[in-house]
Amino acid sequence: MCGIVGYVGKNKQALHVLIEGLKALEYRGYDSSGVAFLNNNKIQIIKEKGKIHNLEVKIDFSVTSNLGIGHTRWATHGEPSQINAHPHKVGKITLVHNGIIENYEELKLVLKESGYSFISETDTEVACALIDKLYNEKNDILKVMDKCRNLIRGSYAFAILVDDIDDKLFVMRKDSPLIIALGNDENYVASDVPAILKFTNRYILLNNNEMAVLTSDSVKVYKDSNTIIKKDIDTFEWDMEAAMKNGYEHYMLKEINEEPEVVYNTIYNLIKNGSEELSSIFPDFSKYKKIDIVACGSAYHAGLIGKTLIEKYGDIPVNVEVASEYRYKKLFYNNRTLVIIISQSGETADSLAALRIAKEHDVDTLAIVNVVGSSIAREAKYVLYTKAGVEIAVATTKAYSSQLAVLSLIALSMINNDDNFDNFVSDCQKLETQMTNLIKKHNVYRDIALEIYQKNDIFFLGRGIDYALAMEGSLKLKEISYLHSEAYPAGELKHGTISLIEKDTPVIAIATDETLNEKIISNIKEVKARGASVILLTTSKLNKVGDYYDYKIVVDDNNELLQSLLTIIPLQLLSYEVAKLKGCDIDKPRNLAKSVTVE
Ligand code: M6R
Repeated sequence: MCGIVGYVGKNKQALHVLIEGLKALEYRGYDSSGVAFLNNNKIQIIKEKGKIHNLEVKIDFSVTSNLGIGHTRWATHGEPSQINAHPHKVGKITLVHNGIIENYEELKLVLKESGYSFISETDTEVACALIDKLYNEKNDILKVMDKCRNLIRGSYAFAILVDDIDDKLFVMRKDSPLIIALGNDENYVASDVPAILKFTNRYILLNNNEMAVLTSDSVKVYKDSNTIIKKDIDTFEWDMEAAMKNGYEHYMLKEINEEPEVVYNTIYNLIKNGSEELSSIFPDFSKYKKIDIVACGSAYHAGLIGKTLIEKYGDIPVNVEVASEYRYKKLFYNNRTLVIIISQSGETADSLAALRIAKEHDVDTLAIVNVVGSSIAREAKYVLYTKAGVEIAVATTKAYSSQLAVLSLIALSMINNDDNFDNFVSDCQKLETQMTNLIKKHNVYRDIALEIYQKNDIFFLGRGIDYALAMEGSLKLKEISYLHSEAYPAGELKHGTISLIEKDTPVIAIATDETLNEKIISNIKEVKARGASVILLTTSKLNKVGDYYDYKIVVDDNNELLQSLLTIIPLQLLSYEVAKLKGCDIDKPRNLAKSVTVE
């Protein structure tokens, strides 16, 4: 996830501030970084692929500069590379950008007609050229920024330097955060608090559609190029650790709150150029007669959901296996087999071993990975990245959801129908708001958590896709709250496990599949008749009054391909609330590691 830092001041060396600021943003994840700074009345740019260290070693820190901008990039448009890294410079304009310019292709065509050419694949360079074009026409950068807001669609936080203005830093934002931090005879801009916390704790929050001009001794915030807004100055009370959590009590909670955005980013990254782009990015799935999905833990559970969707929409048999088993079993490959490896870290030893086995057999491999440049990403034949950003909590939430998003797109690509594609795109837009609203229902999850946190055993039931979600819900609860739970296919319980149900045993029943709803209701009644305390998780469409549940959580309806992205949220938050009530170390549960690089 990209990061921005900027400095204008009399007291410090800009290059030092920029590098320190960028290092403090490293936790967000990035694949390249860069700085632009004013030296001897000229803007110089240095950028590099990979770690900030690669950039740092190219910088001469004895160079004096009192004005500069820096950026860490997490690739969206164009691969991680030095050319695609920010800052970008076109004509007199140098800028860094967080966010996504949705209409960059249209803008690019128009700008090309006006004589602009582009060296990167980024949407950012297009925005830079647009600002330069308007600046050449108007020669008033504030008016240009004002006008840009009507021309650019999408999200952005920009920090801008202008060639012939050597004492000012310009910023503007929409839907991507930006703060202005205040020092003595110096001011800063940053996308995120940690970037400036080492230097100052006084700041102004820039709101959507606001623009600002910073000099070393002034900050002016504008509503439009003629109207200055008076802003409050706030003070950060957090230390660095708290700032990285962005005010949330735990990383896990922060990461759950990021789910709507990262799911959107993951999907948008793959569909931004329409349905045809999907077929060019994805392998040609029609080549395959059989798919093996191999993964561990939550990634395995994501694979189970992928199986249901791919089998239904793609009509290809899918076998999902835990990597530690897969690597030692007899495999039935043929030249029409595809092996899909799913991994957040891209370093999980068992998943990596499974990938290597498939490669040894000359079988095509596709990795769904979050960490760019990780071993699994490097070694697989095809790679699709989830855009979850860095996930710090050991229990995965946003990376798991991003994996579901990619698997949904794979299933969608197999339908190969424009109407379905268009519906999917509009359902995705709806999804972001639905997810956000669901996350906000904290009291519901807290109230249910209060009922169950002192129990010894909990059962999760589901059928079909809901069974795969039950498995993930159960794993989440176990790993962070240490409460024993089991996930069961609801129809299977009566073959043995139902003997464990007694008075007040909590049973979380997931019922979101219309085709199986009557069946699961019968199964729920079976446990209810034996005294279970039932927590029903269902959708608006299937929601009805009944005496077979004690608590109910209702999620909005969406496209079948996207529904699981809603259903999983209450399960994640319920586990979180239970773990909190039990006083567990939520972000670092006992005995667990974020990335399991041993067999
Ligand atoms: O990095 P990976 O996705 O390959 O990790 C796989 C599992 O170790 C991981 O999903 C684990 O189950 C999580 N802690 C679950 O929250």
